[in-house]
Amino acid sequence: MAFHPQTIIEPFRIKMVEPITATQPADREAALREAHYNLFQIPAEKVLIDLLTDSGTGAMSTEQWSGMLRGDESYAGSRSFYKLEAAVKDITGFHHIIPTHQGRAAERILFSTICRPGDVIPSNTHFDTTRANIEAAGAEARDLAIAEAHHPAVIHPFKGNMDVDLLQQTIAEVGAEHIPVCMLTITNNSGGGQPVSMENVRAVSAICHAHNIPLFIDACRFAENAWFIKQREPGYADHTPLEIARELFRLADGCTMSAKKDGMANIGGFLAMQQDEWAARCQNLLILTEGFTTYGGLAGYDMEAIAVGLYEALHEDYLRYRIRTVAYLGDKLIAAGIPIVQPTGGHAVYLDAGALLPHIPSAQYPAQALCVELYRLAGVRAVEIGSVMFGRPRADGSEDAAPLELVRLTFPRRVYTQSHVDYLTEALLYLGAHTATIRGLRITWQAPALRHFTAHFAPLGVEAAIG
Ligand code: F0G
Repeated sequence: MAFHPQTIIEPFRIKMVEPITATQPADREAALREAHYNLFQIPAEKVLIDLLTDSGTGAMSTEQWSGMLRGDESYAGSRSFYKLEAAVKDITGFHHIIPTHQGRAAERILFSTICRPGDVIPSNTHFDTTRANIEAAGAEARDLAIAEAHHPAVIHPFKGNMDVDLLQQTIAEVGAEHIPVCMLTITNNSGGGQPVSMENVRAVSAICHAHNIPLFIDACRFAENAWFIKQREPGYADHTPLEIARELFRLADGCTMSAKKDGMANIGGFLAMQQDEWAARCQNLLILTEGFTTYGGLAGYDMEAIAVGLYEALHEDYLRYRIRTVAYLGDKLIAAGIPIVQPTGGHAVYLDAGALLPHIPSAQYPAQALCVELYRLAGVRAVEIGSVMFGRPRADGSEDAAPLELVRLTFPRRVYTQSHVDYLTEALLYLGAHTATIRGLRITWQAPALRHFTAHFAPLGVEAAIG
């Protein structure tokens, strides 16, 4: 007998639980009103299933917790730093490992060290903190994703790839001397958690190096990207995710990392690179703003958790379960005709709210309306990635809409089980069958930058009824 089970199980058992409590519809309605219909403003206690982000929200393992108890809290030369340094060097091959409190600190230190005003930093797609840090350094963040990335329904195995022709055109247009570094985000978060192929990394690396431009990887979800390469790219089926990650990093010259993702930690990050001179300058800035070079704003126990977590993120059983969880939800939504970004990516399912709610124009924020409705119905918190986040005000008070109106359902690592996903599916199928009654919103107050975190909204239907 040979038992080949079809069910992919959670590859862990649970030895500590955190209760979640269902709220009543009236509680959720009140919470929405108090939060001005902005889900960032709702206390987490009032959320049943929290899919706002996969960043720092994962569950740590017994090995990570026991490592934390062994954390060395020395200011200089902490044993936990050397453990982290050894792990990152083993996986990436980079020479200088600079710990930071999270990914954006690594970005700020890198870009404020190497960018001059007028420089251009190409990427497949910059994450928003990356873009903001490049712009804060006076440089331009330029997205060069392949054309397929802009079409939610188009299937492509590596929809996170960079368009290498556009990269060559950009180098010819601005000159290599104005491109201090080229980035690749793996997986491409803003583009739907889509992977980048090894072939694409190799091609981008060759172009960059022919022009003496260093290539840096935004490595937040490097393990998930390695899994997609193993599954989808010819020649990699027999390689382990660790081998794939090593090969990929060795095509690059450095990386920025938020260890809150594939570091499996609740906080932390690092900057890693080969260049001695850049590293020395980055370390000076680190001491000024984050902390000494062997802790960079982290506790010793945080570095222990990351050192262990980086390897756990590369376990095949874990990655199989992780990526399947996302595809499991995606498959059910596709079968029910609910439009999503396809194929499903590594850490999230992205609902295409523009296609699901065609009666709500971008100026009335369909993706925000869908987030509000999902919370109202089922207590699930998702995040808007549409015109609230990316809409740009025009001089006449109107706005340029974002290219896509998406809702991201982001899965924290090792936190929810299949029945949570089944409940979520039920809620989404119900919403999908009752879209006609969903109304848009208008913004009643907003901050001058990063407005999505704090903006106040008013539901349009209610106003119409009142007035
Ligand atoms: N790069 C990517 C691709 C990211 O997804 C993030 C964070 C960062 C950099 C910044 O890292 O948060 O540690 O400072 N993404 C989170 C998200 C916030 O919800 O997607 P950080």
